[in-house]
Amino acid sequence: MQLFILGATGGTGRQLTREALERGHVVTAFVRSPEKMRTQHDNLRILKGDVKDADQLERALCDKDAVLSALGASEPRSDRILETAAHSTVDAMRRTNVRRLVVVSMALLFPDVGPLGPVLRFFLRRHLRDSAAMEKVVEGSELDWTIVRPPRLTNGPPKERTQTTERHAPPGFSISRADLAHAILDIVEQAAYVGKVIGVSA
Ligand SMILES: NC(=O)c1ccc[n+]([C@@H]2O[C@H](COP(=O)([O-])OP(=O)(O)OC[C@H]3O[C@@H](n4cnc5c(N)ncnc54)[C@H](OP(=O)(O)O)[C@@H]3O)[C@@H](O)[C@H]2O)c1
Repeated sequence: MQLFILGATGGTGRQLTREALERGHVVTAFVRSPEKMRTQHDNLRILKGDVKDADQLERALCDKDAVLSALGASEPRSDRILETAAHSTVDAMRRTNVRRLVVVSMALLFPDVGPLGPVLRFFLRRHLRDSAAMEKVVEGSELDWTIVRPPRLTNGPPKERTQTTERHAPPGFSISRADLAHAILDIVEQAAYVGKVIGVSA
């Protein structure tokens, strides 16, 4: 597949890029800091651009099969980046007729996330608000979307044993970024969970 990855310089995005290439996909990494990309591969194209700019995304998106977003708010003040990027991405996808979109959100948005939920929600409230706003844009997009809500992310080794839930928080309290990437690529390849909000944990 021709995959278009947002957030490819981040923890999850790096794993997504690496595994997508290992699986034989052709990857376009649309990033603001190309110098941060560590992966080199014949099937990897690195494009510098601004995820807030729908025109730039439109030019880059032509002929892609799916957009995978592992964007996150790496700076405290960029607390609306997910929502803003969701608007520009959905706009650009509509214009280019690219229909498949998978975005990473947060398991804390499930109401039944467990006893630590309220405390975590308080500390992560800005990011949570942005993730919820992003989800709203994606859900309203009429694209073939899937929203993936993981719990705490780790940089641990892959276990390749993930649990997936619909409408409820996933049973585990964490998942490695490598396993999250693995789950996302399975979802895309199998055209699974279209129009669904799912939880994924180890
Ligand atoms: N951390 C957790 O425990 C946890 C738990 C549940 C869900 N999540 C969600 O999982 C997702 C991925 O998390 P992660 O920790 O793997 O990501 P991360 O390492 O924080 O990477 C974030 C990515 O987003 C990019 N980005 C941030 N602000 C940007 C902007 N203004 N313009 C363009 N690109 C921007 C970063 O680019 P640069 O490299 O250029 O900064 C980077 O590629 C996030 O949405 C997060 O909310 C995280």
